[in-house]
Amino acid sequence: MEILRSPDKALRQKSEDISFFDDFLRMFVDLMVETMYEGGGVGLAAPQVGVNRNVIVIDPTGGDDSSALKVMINPKIITRRGSIESEEGCLSVPGFRGTVTRSESVDVEYFTQTGEKQTLTATGFLAIIIQHEIDHLHGILFVDRVSSLKITPKKKVKAAEKTA
Ligand code: CO
Repeated sequence: MEILRSPDKALRQKSEDISFFDDFLRMFVDLMVETMYEGGGVGLAAPQVGVNRNVIVIDPTGGDDSSALKVMINPKIITRRGSIESEEGCLSVPGFRGTVTRSESVDVEYFTQTGEKQTLTATGFLAIIIQHEIDHLHGILFVDRVSSLKITPKKKVKAAEKTA
């Protein structure tokens, strides 16, 4: 699938919950995962491919360890703890990076692809990606949360600062 870039309107709309955990959802999730890995990202939200539904896929290893893949349907952050500065980029805002203040740890409630309810406590990099992707579901881009944007040549981006 094609990754939409800012200022595409789909990136600014609020997404709606998924109600059917069917084969169509699973096919869509597979395509999102493929698109995330092809883009070299560590996370992708459905609005980034033009679908305003509450679906995110995350892999903090960028595909190096496929067991790290997380698929979250209708995710909601229910608890936040602490504060952490993160340098972020976004597949929908290519060529830009910026420092964002995020919660250091979050509890997130979500459904799996098969409709099972789960709760995950995430800290550090995983917590940052979850917050970045859930922002997409609310039409928020990381650039809305930074005080100053940096234009960074792609080559200089470190592994830990991959885009989502
Ligand atoms: Co993003």
